[in-house]
Amino acid sequence: MSGRARLDRLLANLGYGSRREVQILAARGRVMLDGVVVRDGATHVGLGPDLPSRLTVDGAPVDPPAPLTLILHKPLGVVCSHKEAGRSVYELLPPRWRARSPALSTVGRLDADTSGLLLITDDGQLLHRIISPKAAVEKRYIATLARPLTGEEAAVFASGGLILEGETTPLAPARLTPRGPRTAELVITEGRYHQVRRMFAAVGNHVEALHRDRIGALVLAEDLAPGDYRVARVEDIAVVFGGARA
Ligand code: URA
Repeated sequence: MSGRARLDRLLANLGYGSRREVQILAARGRVMLDGVVVRDGATHVGLGPDLPSRLTVDGAPVDPPAPLTLILHKPLGVVCSHKEAGRSVYELLPPRWRARSPALSTVGRLDADTSGLLLITDDGQLLHRIISPKAAVEKRYIATLARPLTGEEAAVFASGGLILEGETTPLAPARLTPRGPRTAELVITEGRYHQVRRMFAAVGNHVEALHRDRIGALVLAEDLAPGDYRVARVEDIAVVFGGARA
């Protein structure tokens, strides 16, 4: 983000309240820009990633401006959509962030009973670039299975001919690497509904636990605990689209 924005519009878009509410906030002397109290909501503020080091509300750095992308370690038991019943990934973020405009959205979805790497962004173009079938961004899953691998799964998944139940278009080739008798890594480039679970169902198995640990070449950091997130840097986004595959 660059350019300039009116202070009241900027803070309202960051979820600090309505335009009127943030005007009052400023009038009360609770907003400072470059170390100086700004009481007028109509003041224009230069935008950029350094904004939080220049603009404070009640002495705290303002929230990161758009475009904002987060790297979240999704825990089990939370859903990725506002519409589904149950606790959502958005509840893991500061409550104010739910009122941001543009809104934050998950980049694709993980099932409630899948854990792992999830990107959340307010950058619609980036979101579409990542999920676009044309981009064929790799997603790596670790699946724990109910039954031992037969040894035939890798060829079936790599064939490019597997058609999931209820569908007519074959899946793009996917790469399976066994990790143990009942554990496998599976790298897919699509994001069809419950894809990994349905792929194993198609070969007569059942996924008991599922975890995603990589998107593109971006690997979930071991020090990011379930439920924790961090703000993605420009370099992290570049890694999603390229770099050495782990
Ligand atoms: N495939 C699934 O079956 N579930 C997920 O959450 C992601 C991929």
